[in-house]
Amino acid sequence: MKKKIHFETLMIHGKMVSSHWQYKDHIVPPISSSTSFRLESSERGAEGFNKFANPEFNRLTTPPIYIYDRLDEPNKGILEEDLALAHNAESCVSFSSGMAAISAAIGVLIKSGDSVVVHKTLYGCTYSLFFNWFSSRLGVKVKQVDLTNPEELDYVLTQDPTVMLVYGESPTNPTLDILDIKAISEIVKFHNDKRKQGRKIFLVIDNTFASPWCQRPLDRGADVVVESLTKHICGFGTTMGGAVLAPRILEPDLLLFRKDFGGVLAPSAAWSITVYGLSTLALRLQKQIETAYKVANFLESSPKVEKVLYPGLESHPQHSLARVQMVAPDGSFAPGSIIYFVLKGRNDRDKKEKGRKIMDFIARSSYSITLAVSLGQTKTLIEHPSSMTHAGITVEEQIKAGIEPGGIRMSIGIENSDDIIGDLDAAFSII
Ligand SMILES: Cc1ncc(COP(=O)(O)O)c(C=O)c1O
Repeated sequence: MKKKIHFETLMIHGKMVSSHWQYKDHIVPPISSSTSFRLESSERGAEGFNKFANPEFNRLTTPPIYIYDRLDEPNKGILEEDLALAHNAESCVSFSSGMAAISAAIGVLIKSGDSVVVHKTLYGCTYSLFFNWFSSRLGVKVKQVDLTNPEELDYVLTQDPTVMLVYGESPTNPTLDILDIKAISEIVKFHNDKRKQGRKIFLVIDNTFASPWCQRPLDRGADVVVESLTKHICGFGTTMGGAVLAPRILEPDLLLFRKDFGGVLAPSAAWSITVYGLSTLALRLQKQIETAYKVANFLESSPKVEKVLYPGLESHPQHSLARVQMVAPDGSFAPGSIIYFVLKGRNDRDKKEKGRKIMDFIARSSYSITLAVSLGQTKTLIEHPSSMTHAGITVEEQIKAGIEPGGIRMSIGIENSDDIIGDLDAAFSII
């Protein structure tokens, strides 16, 4: 019987022999740096154009005919194969950033006149994409629902037959709500069973905060997964990228969207994400989770902290759901490496002021914690969502979405936990 290969081994060796490259001479695939490709005949060129984004050809198994980088090239192909393996996905299409991937996933699934349901808390740019572009300019109705309560979704889908897409992050940025992907997918399926072909609702989950080490939403019933590769999957804070993991029926449209809107991932970016990022994903996340527990426990015991949200803590309101949903491929509980906490204060203004003071102290005096946006890097990063990543949303909207003025987000790196805790302790001493 064929032995099942472990996730971390799979992410180092990938498909081993890929139709995108011949591995006779290389251990590491070379970086392709050719924007167009030599064609041995016009007939082969015609065949290449005919096969591109053609549903009759399975891209994962058909040897490709490369024409032009914006259509396809070897490094993206290899990365996409490996990401599809990580997520048990039928297909993967990469993009130049997480936002390019999210735009494509939404762009191929809806048209003007349709409605979408989104969770009440979203990453700031995703919120802007839905409201400032799809809603304000393109005639798509966007409804915010608390998807942590799937009954609310059931009600909206019963009332509104124009909903074609349900979208959420799990865990959410920055408040770490956990969406019950299985429960949501069952409600979507229940409504889809009553709908005609071509009017089916798709469930899209942004898996950026978790990464495929901690969670694989397709296995829990999601239709489509989007990932910002810039975060955990790149892992070192060096390269931007995004990916859509989808059923094969969506692949042609995703490829055409990428070709026409042009958000292609550079081959050098695909190369470094494959060679450095994916191969160390499991190792990094295992260490980061171990440290995140220690930091979360320190925060929970600090008299300066009002509340800590980390899915690994029993005090997290959805800890038991996280235990079932955030599971590493080796079966261990994998609650991720992001922590959200709120400082104590007399009122929102006082908490916000203390948050700002701490940010400035860390920016000037900390060695192991860096004040910066983004997450999922080897370095520990801290930020203040209300005035940074989510500043595009009004304070009233922030509060509605659960983003408190004094809330602080930390992304744990691979430093020694004592150094991170020491820097936090020093910062707390000034408030
Ligand atoms: C949850 C989430 N989704 C998507 C994105 C966008 O990714 P990118 O910056 O690669 O476009 C981010 C960025 O912070 C994010 O946090």
